[in-house]
Amino acid sequence: MADTPTDTFTVSWTAMADGTVEDYAQLSKIFESHGRETLVGHLLSVMRLLEGPTLGYQIDRERHCRQSATRALRNGESDEFVVAALLHDIGDVLAPDNHSGVAAAIVAPYVSSETEWVVRHHGLFQGYYYFHHLGGDRHARERYGESPHYDRCVDFCASYDQNCFDPAYDDLPMEDFVPLLEQVFSRPPNYTA
Ligand SMILES: [Fe+2]
Ligand SMILES: [Fe+2]
Repeated sequence: MADTPTDTFTVSWTAMADGTVEDYAQLSKIFESHGRETLVGHLLSVMRLLEGPTLGYQIDRERHCRQSATRALRNGESDEFVVAALLHDIGDVLAPDNHSGVAAAIVAPYVSSETEWVVRHHGLFQGYYYFHHLGGDRHARERYGESPHYDRCVDFCASYDQNCFDPAYDDLPMEDFVPLLEQVFSRPPNYTA
């Protein structure tokens, strides 16, 4: 089957139930190529939404994310872990009450289960540094003590999150991370949904 440019193929129907095998082969091809071509740009657009208000901290959340990724990069972490660090708070502007879950869902198809687990649980683990100041349990993360990823998540928060609010740190610009984003998000997905 010849390639079909995205601007020359349109289905003849208006209800998905009426589609054919050939239609869905074309649609899948278009969707995959379009999604891959635009994904990193969309992620960067959302990251820009984290710029601006510092919300009481000394730096904004976009810089916090770049500082996290910069520290991970300079510590020799893997490409996917640097990308995970860069995006770990992308959910702040999309799901403030579930920001860890949003970031985890974004990276999940392209990274290891450990990296996904760290991103998914970093919010709770980060609570070790402040939950007790709000009347909560700073040790809440210990409920995951049996997880093989527990120590990795503890280290993420200690090395790449709680300490990444420093206006004096020479964090790298976003463009330095674009090749890593392109590389990780062009991997064959572990699954699709
Ligand atoms: Fe976070
Ligand atoms: Fe963070």
